[in-house]
Amino acid sequence: MRIEIPRECERIGSLQIYGLQKVYELDGGEGPHEHDSVIERIPSEVLYDRMREMAIVVPVKNERLKLIEGVLVGIPSPCQVIVVSNSPRGPVDRFNLEKEALENYAKFTGKKILVVHQKDPGLAKAFVEAGYSELLDETGIVRSGKAEGMIVGTLLAKWLGKKYLGFVDSDNYFPGAVLEYVHEYAAGFAMNNTSNTFVRISWHSKPKIMESSIFFAKWGRSSVNSNMMLNRLLTHFSGFETEIVKTGNAGEHALTVDLALKLEYAAGYAVETHHFVNLLEKYGGLLASEDDEEVSEKVTICQIESRNPHMHESKGEDHVEDMIDASLSVIYHSDLCPELLRREIMENVRSRRGDESPKEIAPVKMYPSLSKIDMDTFLSCCDEALNFNLASVRT
Ligand code: GDP
Ligand code: CO
Repeated sequence: MRIEIPRECERIGSLQIYGLQKVYELDGGEGPHEHDSVIERIPSEVLYDRMREMAIVVPVKNERLKLIEGVLVGIPSPCQVIVVSNSPRGPVDRFNLEKEALENYAKFTGKKILVVHQKDPGLAKAFVEAGYSELLDETGIVRSGKAEGMIVGTLLAKWLGKKYLGFVDSDNYFPGAVLEYVHEYAAGFAMNNTSNTFVRISWHSKPKIMESSIFFAKWGRSSVNSNMMLNRLLTHFSGFETEIVKTGNAGEHALTVDLALKLEYAAGYAVETHHFVNLLEKYGGLLASEDDEEVSEKVTICQIESRNPHMHESKGEDHVEDMIDASLSVIYHSDLCPELLRREIMENVRSRRGDESPKEIAPVKMYPSLSKIDMDTFLSCCDEALNFNLASVRT
């Protein structure tokens, strides 16, 4: 892969945020890992080395099997795949259909796939015993939601001994786009060799039909709003206006497992934006921190612009407003958010929602950092629950 080196960098405490980096060649060939003043060339072997240590988590809820299979086709073979499904188990056992289809697919490819159900009682037991029952509902099983599935996937990546963790949605129409994201994750880790690296993808374009011809849109409304407010937050602390954040709500992202285990997770659509806010809270040195050691650790956010168009299953535009509100809510309710920005966020809400806007934007459910989990207990519960009958593991 050939990628431009970052042109800009914002430093806030021990957090470094690099500006958006363009991809110049998806396959940069073999040979040495080298760079000049503008371009870094990461040879395929270096990318594969990272992928061998990478788990790709694929959250699934009621997606068509053909779509899920297409996503798996795009995930390079050195990666460990972790499918976390929350599809219904009755009256038709959709999960079982998924498992059968994936097992069959694994036979053809020899791919390493772990399939688990989010509501597996064995998993719920592991969370209780390890002291993280926040994730469970009244009936004692893991709550529904993509963020909750991501938490499960993160811990399973740890269980499988992986160093890197990437996320790819299961409703992507283009296997080639998935292949590209994973290469970019690997490239981000190869370019930033630290134990706290976060790679976030900004799609180059999203194809839409406008007046019966195809149009490649660049920014969705949701990303415009969350990027703008995150940039305002940075501007407040640096005193210099910035537009560095381009991936405020990037669903396609990857990070070191070490870092994933330190962050808080917001429920629902706010999870990605909250990761950004939480990195600032933890590593920005802006709040009175409880943990000085943490503040001194270097963390790098690397933003890469993908080349394939992004196209996923259309689920209607109804939830766009809710998505925007959720992203803005985590900024609004952060201890970092200055009064001026809170006012600006409420003006934004009022301009979109009119008369139905609340006095104050509602807070989003928050899960504490996974560092509070008793990891040894969790991992041995997983050994018990997942090595046998509840899931299919291939290594
Ligand atoms: P959007 O792309 O942000 O509009 O959201 P989607 O509805 O496409 O969801 C993103 C991904 O998360 C898709 O792959 C879904 O199948 C998956 N997903 C949605 N809800 C859940 C859930 O409750 N649990 C899990 N494990 N995955 C989910
Ligand atoms: Co989607």
